[in-house]
Amino acid sequence: MRKVFITIAIMLGCTLTMSAEDAKATIDIKQGSQKIHKEIYGQFAEHLGSCIYGGLWVGENSVIPNINGYRKDVFDALKNLQVPVLRWPGGCFADEYHWMDGIGPKENRPKMQNNNWGGTIEDNSFGTHEFLNLCEMLGCEPYISGNVGSGTVEELAKWVEYMTSDGDTPMAKLRRKNGRDKAWKVKFLGVGNESWGCGGNMRPEYYADLYRRYSVYCRNYDGNKLYKIASGASDYDYTWTKVLMNNIGNRMDGVSLHYYTVTGWSGSKGSATKFNDDDYYWTMGKCLGIEDVIIKHSKLMDAKDPQKKIGLLVDEWGTWWDEEPGTIAGHLYQQNALRDAFVAALSLNVFHRHTDRVRMANIAQIVNVLQSMILTDQKGTGHMVLTPTYHVFDMYKGFQEATYLPMDITCDSIAVRGDQHAKDGRKIPVLNTSAAKQTDGSLIISLSNISLDKDQTISIDLKGFAAKNITGRILTSKNATDYNDFEHPDVIKPMEFKKAKLKKNIITAEIPAKSIVVLNVK
Ligand code: AHR
Repeated sequence: MRKVFITIAIMLGCTLTMSAEDAKATIDIKQGSQKIHKEIYGQFAEHLGSCIYGGLWVGENSVIPNINGYRKDVFDALKNLQVPVLRWPGGCFADEYHWMDGIGPKENRPKMQNNNWGGTIEDNSFGTHEFLNLCEMLGCEPYISGNVGSGTVEELAKWVEYMTSDGDTPMAKLRRKNGRDKAWKVKFLGVGNESWGCGGNMRPEYYADLYRRYSVYCRNYDGNKLYKIASGASDYDYTWTKVLMNNIGNRMDGVSLHYYTVTGWSGSKGSATKFNDDDYYWTMGKCLGIEDVIIKHSKLMDAKDPQKKIGLLVDEWGTWWDEEPGTIAGHLYQQNALRDAFVAALSLNVFHRHTDRVRMANIAQIVNVLQSMILTDQKGTGHMVLTPTYHVFDMYKGFQEATYLPMDITCDSIAVRGDQHAKDGRKIPVLNTSAAKQTDGSLIISLSNISLDKDQTISIDLKGFAAKNITGRILTSKNATDYNDFEHPDVIKPMEFKKAKLKKNIITAEIPAKSIVVLNVK
C-alpha cells in the first residue's frame, strides 16, 4: 500500500495532512457490552426567542394548523424523530420561572418579562400542563429544570407534588381542578441550571449545600421515582465537578455538563453560514474537544463513584453562532449549515463512546434557537424547515438503545487550528465513525468524512457477523456552508447511499468528501 503523505496548506493557516492510503476498520460483534442510552438523543426547549411561542406552540386559535395549540408541522416532524426526553423550561429561564403563573385558565395567567432573553413579554399560555401533555403526545420523558436561583424549596417541592402526586394532596387537588385527573410521570428533575452563572452566580460549596436542601423535599409520590440532577459544570470547570462529587456525592443521580461549540463568550461568534475552510476545520476540532472534557470530568467522578452510578448529563451542547442579521437580539436564532450536521454527528459519536458515564445529552435547542432541529416562521399559515442537524438525528435513530460496538480504525488525520484550550492545535481523524448492534440484531454504522475535498475509501471487517444485506443513507452538499431555508427547504436532505458493497464479511465503501453516511447491515 502506498505511503504518500501530502501536506496541503489550507487558507488562513490550517494544515491538512493527507495520506493516499485507504482506511481500514474492524468491528468485532462480540465486543459490545454497553447500551447507548436513548436519552443521549435528548432535546432542550427553553422559553427563549421563538422556541416555545411560535415554534412548538401557537395556541388553539392560531391560523397556523395546530393540534390543541401545538404546531402540527413541528409536532409531526418531532414525532418522526423519536425524541426520548425533552428538557424544559430552561436554561437560564428556569431560574426565574414561577410555575404557578403557568397553570389554570389561560386568561387568568399573569404575563411575565423574559429577562434573560431580550426582555420579551410572555403570556404564560405554555405552562406545566402544556409541556407535560406534549411529552405524552410525543412519547418522551419530561425533564423538568427546577428554579433554585430565585425560587424557594417550597415552590419546587409543590411543583413536584402538583405533577406527580395521585393522592388526596393539596397540589394534586389543584391539578385536578385545572383539568388533569391523573398524575403525570416525571422522572428527570434538574435542581437548578448553571448555578455558577445565570442560575444564581454561586460558589460550588454553597450550591452543593443548596442542592442537598432542595433535593430532600422533592419527594417520590405514588410510584414516581425522580432522577435528581445537580447543576453541573461549564466546559473546563473541573473544580465545580470535584466539589459536587465531594459534597453531594450519591445524593444526586446525575450531574450536568454544558459544552458549546463556540469561539468564545465575548465578541462575534462568527456567522452560521459564512465561514471559510479554516473556520470549518476549527469547528470540527472544537466539537471533538468535548471528548477530552468528558474524560476529565468522568475521571474526577470515578474517584468517588468508581462504579459509575452517577450519570454525567450533557444537558446543553451544540453550536453557538452569531444571531442571524435582522432577527431579534437575545433570541439566539441562527441558521444551520452542513457544518452543523457534522457537529451533531461527531458529538453523538463521542457520546456513544462514553455511554458508560454519559447518561443523557440534550442538544440546544429543539426549534428556532441555536443548533436547532427545525426552523419556523409565522407568516400566513406558517412555514417549517428541517435543518441538516435534524437529518443527522433522523439518520442516527437506530443508535438509540443499541449496543455500542467499539470500532478499530486506521485512517488519515487532519491537523486543525486550536484555541486557548488546545494551544498547539488539534489533530483529528478524517473519518469519524461509530457502530452499534440494534435491538433487531442488525448493525448500524456511521461514517463521517470530515475532509472538504478528499473522498475516502474504507474497508470494514465485520468479525463474527454473517452479513447478508447492506443499505445506507448519505447527507452531503456541494459546500459546507450550504443550508436549508424557507425558499429552498431541501438543499440538504438524506439520499440513498449506493457506494457500499458487501463481499464475504467485508464492507467496502467510498465516502465522498464532506459527507455523513449511515449504513444498516443485516
Ligand atoms: O441554551 C442557551 C443558554 O445557554 C441557556 O439558557 C443557558 O443554560 C446556557 O448558558
